[in-house]
Amino acid sequence: MNIFAQSTSDYDTLVLGLFYGEELNDTEISTVLKRDKFEGNFGASYVYNTTEKRVLVLGLGKKENFDQNKLREIMAKAQRLLTSLKSEVAYLQLETDLEDEIYAEFAAIGLLTGEYAFDKYKTKKSPKTLKEVYLNASSQKSVDKGVKISNATSFARNLSNEPAQFVTPETLAQYASQLDGIETKIYERDEVAKMGMNAYLAVGQGSINPPKFIHMHYKPQNPKKTIALIGKGITFDSGGMDLKPAASMLTMRDDMSGAACVIAVMSLLNEFKPDIEVHGIIAACENMISGKAYKPGDILTAKNGKTIEVENTDAEGRITLADALCYACELEVDEIIDIATLTGACMVALGSQCAGLLGNNKNLMDKIQNVANNQGERFWQLPMFAEYFDMLKSDVADMKNTGGRWGGASSAGTFLNEFVNPDIAWAHLDIAGTAFLDKPQKDLIKGATGIGVRTLINYILGE
Ligand code: BES
Ligand code: MG
Ligand code: ZN
Repeated sequence: MNIFAQSTSDYDTLVLGLFYGEELNDTEISTVLKRDKFEGNFGASYVYNTTEKRVLVLGLGKKENFDQNKLREIMAKAQRLLTSLKSEVAYLQLETDLEDEIYAEFAAIGLLTGEYAFDKYKTKKSPKTLKEVYLNASSQKSVDKGVKISNATSFARNLSNEPAQFVTPETLAQYASQLDGIETKIYERDEVAKMGMNAYLAVGQGSINPPKFIHMHYKPQNPKKTIALIGKGITFDSGGMDLKPAASMLTMRDDMSGAACVIAVMSLLNEFKPDIEVHGIIAACENMISGKAYKPGDILTAKNGKTIEVENTDAEGRITLADALCYACELEVDEIIDIATLTGACMVALGSQCAGLLGNNKNLMDKIQNVANNQGERFWQLPMFAEYFDMLKSDVADMKNTGGRWGGASSAGTFLNEFVNPDIAWAHLDIAGTAFLDKPQKDLIKGATGIGVRTLINYILGE
């Protein structure tokens, strides 16, 4: 689909918006809408079809509740409606109070979200008949920004939706190596061992697919600051020897959604060229059972020398992140943001409507939460009181990797905190509940969501 910030007279469908309780300028359609009691409730739609013209009217709800994210949602819906009408060229004429740039960007994101389908393994593909959409906006630059961010989000969603048989640590490494304007180094098992990341290696040792430690680097001329993004990259989480029950294992191909997000964000840096240096780090591996797998009771030593008693092999993400955090700290960055499908406990706490946000720096957390709000990605701050670490006390090592059922997202946070230099601002995004959805949400996203891409790129761009 091509999206243009310009008007046209050559379209098959005109799309109008109606705020609740208001009237359209077109008296003919207005009369029909009144007759049929179409009031403009948010998400409602009406097709006015005559031999001369076809008009799709979208209900925009109450004007005071309308914002860029409502626009994004309604545009995803509009794409689906236009497709079912077999429209090829549509002209969108919503009259909202949004700024031109915001309107253009979020309309583009919504339209492309509506178009997304993970249908590569279906012989019958979903129709993509809608080829051109014209917008009553003037900023093509903002449309293009929306398109780039949408494409990166779709890329992240594709990676997470792909079966684990096709997305292995090797696959992630290949994608990371192909990014324009990004220097990528892949470290193999023996090199990782030399660097002392033996906690991470233990998690991957049961798999026939070798681990790949991925370091992507974007370096502008005179960077204002340096950020490290770390993505959890477990390409399949069987639980390991503490094997997951079938129902919980089913979607564990998504356990690399943090990694997918980081690769997608890195892919955008050469496009937007921010004056911020960014490292993208992924300790990719597979958590499997086998004669070589790590076991409950094993004691692992992380890169910073701290020891971990493995109480449960299914709490593997934090072990891999431990070494990745140590590695990032040695790069002397100003900020570290990790994003991980880390705990079922976070999912229990916040559901699939909202992700968890923890860290050692309130200012950084507030900033991320703010950007996320603007993007319609919800994050909620969870505490990381020192007392949560008491649950991780071990008789034989510096800590255990699990702390019981209660407060699991917070105890996981205090675990990670052991591997972060306290002088570096760090935020941890727990996306366990939000990375993969069984039921579509209001913006029609189902399966892998690509959560984090919009928030992190806009955070880096300072928007
Ligand atoms: N990958 C899971 C977390 C997860 C759960 C992601 C549900 C997405 C949806 C993680 O590795 C895990 O298994 N965590 C365990 C930790 C427990 C053993 C302390 C969990 O949350 O059950
Ligand atoms: Mg696990
Ligand atoms: Zn996991």
